[in-house]
Amino acid sequence: MIGSDISQAKAFLEAGELVAVPTETVYGLAGNALNTEAVLSIFRVKNRPAFDPLIVHTHSFDALGQWVREVPEKARLLGQKLTPGPITFLLPRTAAIPDLVTSGLDTVGIRIPNHPLTLELLKTLDFPLAAPSANPFGYISPTTAAHVEQQLGDKIPYILDGGPCEVGVESTIVGFEGDQVIVYRKGGTPVEVIEAIVGPVEVRTHSSSNPKAPGMLKSHYAPRTPLSLLRDELPENTTRAVGVLSFQRDYGLAHQEILSPSGDFAEAARNLFAAMRRLDALGLDHIYAELLPEKDLGVAINDRIRRAAAE
Ligand code: TXA
Ligand code: MG
Repeated sequence: MIGSDISQAKAFLEAGELVAVPTETVYGLAGNALNTEAVLSIFRVKNRPAFDPLIVHTHSFDALGQWVREVPEKARLLGQKLTPGPITFLLPRTAAIPDLVTSGLDTVGIRIPNHPLTLELLKTLDFPLAAPSANPFGYISPTTAAHVEQQLGDKIPYILDGGPCEVGVESTIVGFEGDQVIVYRKGGTPVEVIEAIVGPVEVRTHSSSNPKAPGMLKSHYAPRTPLSLLRDELPENTTRAVGVLSFQRDYGLAHQEILSPSGDFAEAARNLFAAMRRLDALGLDHIYAELLPEKDLGVAINDRIRRAAAE
């Protein structure tokens, strides 16, 4: 069922059931983070491997004491300036957070989402919400309630509809080693914004076969249709049905999605996943995708496009 009734969402969550919730980045598949049965059903519904930890959502950066053992100075600064907002903090967890949530890691991902409905919901609950993006594992994240309905509608009792997501790409994930800030996932908070607050950061998103942020596995966010990067011009004389995902340019094709005709990064991010889904639904032989200039939100958008293009 889709609706915008917070008390209904609350009732399902209190009963240990799952509810899809809107955030400014993408929709999340939420359950009581302190209830291992609820957390288990998140993994089951998403078909997600248990080694991939979940982010814990709460309503205030100032009230983390129950969930984390310490907040480094730079985390505190970022928390003050950027929350609620599209950033997730990896912080040493307390024993209150179940092992299952963090896949046994000593840190927990904490996020304060900037969406009025979900913030309100979090304030009325007496537990935080574990929530991965509300898509089947490996597929494109949902940015509308309808996207969630299409893929998970028969598996969960309620989808809290908060309209289309304002940011459109997942949160930026940051961790802390001593005085160093490390970016593990490029996302809705551009690295430039973080550096303006805490100085230079290290970006560590392609670490190893055992990445710290496994959502960064190479092929992720992928549509079903083969997708490759459009280097400069479209291949000519092709008999295949092709579609194009572009930033601003109009290729004059029947099947194309222009992310932002005016060249606005925020608009492009907001449109990205819905545009990928529309192209994917056309049953094309191939999708070609342009990369954006590598700055601002273009960095996170390009990251998702490259992942969609990976084998
Ligand atoms: O914007 C977002 O972050 C959305 C909305 C719903 O909040 N959530 C989201 O969750 O993107 P998910 O599960 O799709 O991606 C979370 C990523 C995963 O790649 C996971 O491996 C990583 O965060 N992660 C979570 N906890 C972690 C931890 N303790 N250490 C390292 N990586 C962690
Ligand atoms: Mg995800």
